[in-house]
Amino acid sequence: MESQQAHRKNEHLSLATATYQRAHQHHYFDQVRLIHDALPEMAVKDVDHHVQLADNLRLEWPFYLEAMTGGSNQAAKINRILARLARKHHLAMATGSLSVALKEPATQASFTVVREENPDGIVIANLGADASLANAKAAIKILGANALELHLNAAQELVMPEGDRDFHWLDNIAKLVDQLDVPVIVKEVGFGMSKATIDRLHNAGAQLINVSGRGGTNFAMIEDRRNHELDLDDLANWGQTTPEALLEARGSKAAIIASGGIICPLDVIKAGALGAQAVGVAGYFLNVLIHDGAAALDEVLMEWQAEFPRLLTLLGCRNFGDLSKISFVLQGNLYSYAQQRHLI
Ligand code: FNR
Repeated sequence: MESQQAHRKNEHLSLATATYQRAHQHHYFDQVRLIHDALPEMAVKDVDHHVQLADNLRLEWPFYLEAMTGGSNQAAKINRILARLARKHHLAMATGSLSVALKEPATQASFTVVREENPDGIVIANLGADASLANAKAAIKILGANALELHLNAAQELVMPEGDRDFHWLDNIAKLVDQLDVPVIVKEVGFGMSKATIDRLHNAGAQLINVSGRGGTNFAMIEDRRNHELDLDDLANWGQTTPEALLEARGSKAAIIASGGIICPLDVIKAGALGAQAVGVAGYFLNVLIHDGAAALDEVLMEWQAEFPRLLTLLGCRNFGDLSKISFVLQGNLYSYAQQRHLI
């Protein structure tokens, strides 16, 4: 018999896939058009796909398996498959929040399986932004993590009847960034960030910020399905879409990571054009795995890795960072958002 926490983790997995179609009904990256380079003057083999996110954080590929799970038997199975694929394809992988592993040590194996399967890869731990220094160090140790994600999930907590109601995070983030000896990534969970939030985080010392915007996994929908306490319509469209949040982040001195609604290699490229230095993918990969199985996800990852350097070549870019120099055009609501917010 698993605990209530484990039950909740299983519900997140099943509801993330059950709400997948509805949450993905808009593909906001369609409102970004890239300008074709008819004269690339380079070969596909010239592409160097690695990214250096911090002095001590190098990813072989700019896209990675974003934070999802841990804390139940089903989560352990999923983490094992994801970690095997991460190792095979040299992709970084973040786990779901380790807070359950700290509260219920019996669940730690559902996280450590990630390190067992991928002893030398980049593994990223995950905790809430209110984590104590001792817990942050413990989470990093459990996974032998190369970096720590701190999630900002006020919208998700407020939808949950049992969720937190008090959100004083900034001082704690400043302390953790200062005192931990691995890079810290501060991330949203699918509601995006504004320029003001990004600036406040950077001023508090955050060097790596994942804007994780709307357009993919939607925790207002997931929590609403779990408990029906709030009217979903109030929050279904809450927050900045990922392209909006990336525009909000332009000009920030922090290294910006994108996630939220990334479903194809072209989205990864567009996120790079809008200024992202790396890209996390959660719901799409989970959905392929749960609906079509591990072999299908293996195939998808192979396809993404084949397509990625070709798309960079089509834009005359030798590496992911070069994308920040290419031209793009914004359409529809995204253009109007950017104008009203004075972001272009
Ligand atoms: C998540 N996400 C997440 N994020 C986090 O920081 N800690 C966590 O424990 C979880 N848990 C979690 C479970 C499941 C089942 C999903 C699908 C997602 C959020 C995730 O990392 C990401 O920020 C959002 O899902 C947006 O990206 P996608 O899913 O649209 O690619």
